Amino acid sequence: MKIKSICCIGAGYVGGPTMAVIALKCPHIQVNVLDVNKDRIDAWNSSDLNNLPVFEPGLSEVVNQARGRNLFFSNNIDEAIDKSEMIFIAVNTPTKTYGEGKGQAADLKFVELCARNIAKVSKSDKIVVEKSTLPVRTAEAVQTILDSSENGVKFDVLSNPEFLAEGTAIKDLFKSDRVLIGGQQTESGKIAISALVEIYSNWIPIEKIYTTNVWSAELSKLVANAFLAQRISSINSISALCEVTGADVNEVATAVGMDSRIGNKFLKSSVGFGGSCFQKDILNLVYIAKSLGLHEVSEYWNQVIKINDYQKKRFAFKIINSLFGNVSEKTITLFGWAFKKDTNDSRESAAIYVANLLIENGAKICVYDPRVTEQQMLLDLDKLNSRSSEENRIALSSFSNYIDACNGSSAIAIITEWDEFKDYDWEQIYKILIKPAKVFDGRNILNKKMIEDLGFEFYAIGG
Ligand code: UDX
Ligand code: UDX
Repeated sequence: MKIKSICCIGAGYVGGPTMAVIALKCPHIQVNVLDVNKDRIDAWNSSDLNNLPVFEPGLSEVVNQARGRNLFFSNNIDEAIDKSEMIFIAVNTPTKTYGEGKGQAADLKFVELCARNIAKVSKSDKIVVEKSTLPVRTAEAVQTILDSSENGVKFDVLSNPEFLAEGTAIKDLFKSDRVLIGGQQTESGKIAISALVEIYSNWIPIEKIYTTNVWSAELSKLVANAFLAQRISSINSISALCEVTGADVNEVATAVGMDSRIGNKFLKSSVGFGGSCFQKDILNLVYIAKSLGLHEVSEYWNQVIKINDYQKKRFAFKIINSLFGNVSEKTITLFGWAFKKDTNDSRESAAIYVANLLIENGAKICVYDPRVTEQQMLLDLDKLNSRSSEENRIALSSFSNYIDACNGSSAIAIITEWDEFKDYDWEQIYKILIKPAKVFDGRNILNKKMIEDLGFEFYAIGG
């Protein structure tokens, strides 16, 4: 079965880049990317490629080549569903904020809405592909909803989790370590799997496309994220130990990572991991294990989150304690608000929690981030419900250049590892800070000797 038309519901960080790359690599397939959010679709259609709603290195070039040829962005969801042979679901699946599983389980209301809509408007057989990260056995629920369609249409559900990381999405999509496709082992399930394999094989070597049953594919995505986050929490827990023993966490990570059985990736100690996935997916795993009576398993994974929260708090209190336990009325400058470099995404960024704790203790926060807007920073803070929006607006300001963000500040805290921070005029920064001038490097990106030689007091994670 050779697919000629696909669509994707959800034009976010996953749906947008993934579909753009499929369209680029498969010019024979018509790709429609859909979203309920009109502003988002307008931004994807913007003639100025700097205005795309997602910033990813290389994305605008891909969109520029494929858009209008075989890549289309629209709000016309029902029409596109009906015209497509294969439908990807890439809507968001946030942690539930209400009811059973509140604070841990994934909220599947958008996925369910999509499934109901697909069932309602489809007039021909479809393959439905779960791209969103979902709890194990969600495909079963999606299949049941689709099967309730009264249009006499047949649906096959596949799980095809996305492993791209933000900031390197296009690189990851071009050269994936693996593409995972889970499907039912029935006659039509196997045909559906091979139809999706056929699409990816336009650019991914066939030996990197791994097919499994649906449940394994769903669970593997949660487990991959949990393992990655676990490595960060492991090294971050050691960073605290390094600080009191005189060991250097970078040296420890290098020494440990040189063991080929351990490997050197994802061992960079930091102010804590952020992003829309790690915390949400681990909480989901914790919830699933708990609800299946596997309390030890649940508690084991919960520790990864606890260490991450501890690391963010530890960093904020390091700042407060070094400013003589008092940050009231003092200004602290944060370099970076995004959850990692090369993205405008700030979901679950450590910056939000560090800023919140500092504000709670009376500090004023000035931020410079090359990609995140002040409006987004304030939205992030407001979501914590720690104080009124007006109070957040008084406490935090963002600046369009780093020097202005440093004027009259007592300390600089590096939260995101943007490359440009390394090349700043630190001599000039030293001059305009209140003395003793302090730098807290939450990403271990600065050269300690260079910073200390300029006169700064320097604190690095695990150093
Ligand atoms: C994805 C998800 O697939 C999630 O499961 C995974 O863990 C992380 O990545 P992401 O692309 O980052 O989410 O989410 P987001 O950028 O919020 O995009 C989702 C889009 O879906 C939004 O633009 C939203 O408007 C759209 N949406 C949501 C719909 O079009 N219809 C809905 O019913 C709900
Ligand atoms: C992650 C997974 O890597 C990806 O496979 C999955 O599809 C989605 O979730 P993402 O959240 O976009 O991707 O970014 P990632 O590079 O994994 O970084 C997550 C967080 O961990 C960031 O805050 C990053 O700064 C932090 N991190 C990463 C560290 O603190 N240390 C490291 O060594 C690596």
